[in-house]
Amino acid sequence: MRLRLPRRSDVGALDEAIQETLPDLVRWLPWARPNHTRQDTRLYLRGARLARSKRRAFEFLMEDIQSGAVLGITSLHRIDWARRCAGLGYWIRRSAWGKGAATEATYAVIEYAFHDLALNRLEVHVAPENLASLRVAEKLGFQREGIAREAELINGQYSDHVQYSLLRSDLSELPGGVP
Ligand SMILES: CC(C)(COP(=O)(O)OP(=O)(O)OC[C@H]1O[C@@H](n2cnc3c(N)ncnc32)[C@H](O)[C@@H]1OP(=O)(O)O)[C@@H](O)C(=O)NCCC(=O)NCCS
Repeated sequence: MRLRLPRRSDVGALDEAIQETLPDLVRWLPWARPNHTRQDTRLYLRGARLARSKRRAFEFLMEDIQSGAVLGITSLHRIDWARRCAGLGYWIRRSAWGKGAATEATYAVIEYAFHDLALNRLEVHVAPENLASLRVAEKLGFQREGIAREAELINGQYSDHVQYSLLRSDLSELPGGVP
């Protein structure tokens, strides 16, 4: 797998991955709509470029090196430079689930966040029923802080989220140790 910044020309391959996974994305992620179109993917890519240029968010595309297929996205968002913290998100296309892709790619972004961007705290918000995502956060060494009640509005429904955090000083607890 390669992790890289998304480009305008990724719209087709990215949209294919989104359409394949859409029912699952709609269930768990606030931005996903059941009628998501290629134009929405184009707007997402434009928004990602703008956010990156303003250093508000960084989206990373996971790409299968051999086939060039998009495997998913992992991102740093809501970056607060004053407090040096950010949110972390991830999704993987359905056909690539269960092979460790989310954990591997997100680990690389964690290293980037703490070392290259000098952030201090990362947060992941996960619906309590999203067992695969809870497991990813825990495998990555995130600490569970509590439940934020009805903190998300996903596809018209309020949903609780489990709040997890990882601190720069927690890195030594990660399986790979301090990079
Ligand atoms: C959550 C998601 C990113 C996981 O991607 P992935 O590449 O399959 O994740 P990984 O393979 O790195 O790890 C998944 C872990 O969850 C476990 N898991 C999967 N389904 C599970 C379930 N129903 N119950 C318990 N554990 C489960 C896997 O066994 C694995 O743990 P293990 O390595 O200890 O065996 C993917 O399912 C997804 O994109 N879901 C839709 C979008 C989403 O929910 N994003 C996160 C929003 S917070």
